[in-house]
Amino acid sequence: NGVIHQSNELASKRIIISLGGTLSPIDPVRYIGNRSSGKMGWAIAQAAYHMGAQVDVVAGRTSISLPKLGDRMTIYRVQTTQDMYETINQLFDKSNALIMAAAVADFKVTNYADQKIKKVAGQEQINLQLEPNIDILKTFGEQKKDQLTIGFAAETQDVIENAQQKLTSKHADLIIANDVSQSDTGFNADTNKVTILRPGYDPEPWAQDTKQAIGVKLMQLVNSMLKK
Ligand code: CTP
Ligand code: CA
Repeated sequence: NGVIHQSNELASKRIIISLGGTLSPIDPVRYIGNRSSGKMGWAIAQAAYHMGAQVDVVAGRTSISLPKLGDRMTIYRVQTTQDMYETINQLFDKSNALIMAAAVADFKVTNYADQKIKKVAGQEQINLQLEPNIDILKTFGEQKKDQLTIGFAAETQDVIENAQQKLTSKHADLIIANDVSQSDTGFNADTNKVTILRPGYDPEPWAQDTKQAIGVKLMQLVNSMLKK
């Protein structure tokens, strides 16, 4: 509705929010990317900021602009999954929560070419070899102290089952499960339909709503979890 709710509920809390997509370079001019817009993560970052938090935004490629909202916000721009990991690693110890809204590239190109790959006459095929990237949410889930670690699960089928597995395997405190097979709730949409998963709780489906409203609702939930 355009009205920004300001409060200081999260004053003195430091929240890291990753968003957008990381990419996997193939050569100096090409990369493998993904369709993440950054909208959901940016909605969360705005909500956290307006609740008084210190917000560290770690942004991959986005299709929206990210205007720094003020002194309590720092925006780090990264390219690869490894860059995103290293940036978050510098911030994690001082933070209270890590929210991984980024679409993280799962694979990097093993045979990255230092020079632009040229077409060769008569060549029928070229091969890209991929190897796994670090799992950022899992890594920090395993090494956290008091921090909350929160992730998304973008699924096209068996949404709750798959998301529940991610909650466990990544030692997350909260997973936001998200059906990306629907065009009004997936990548680049302005609305979303999510289900909240937490260890020891039944899945909690939230009504379809704007990404802005879901961002506010999520940060209110995170605030209540940080108080415990
Ligand atoms: N994530 C991460 N590091 C990765 C891959 C994913 O931190 N290398 C995070 C995402 O930001 C998201 C959560 O883990 O918060 C789940 O991401 P998703 O792609 O749904 O799950 P994956 O574990 O990568 O499994 P898959 O893509 O095979 O479903
Ligand atoms: Ca993935």
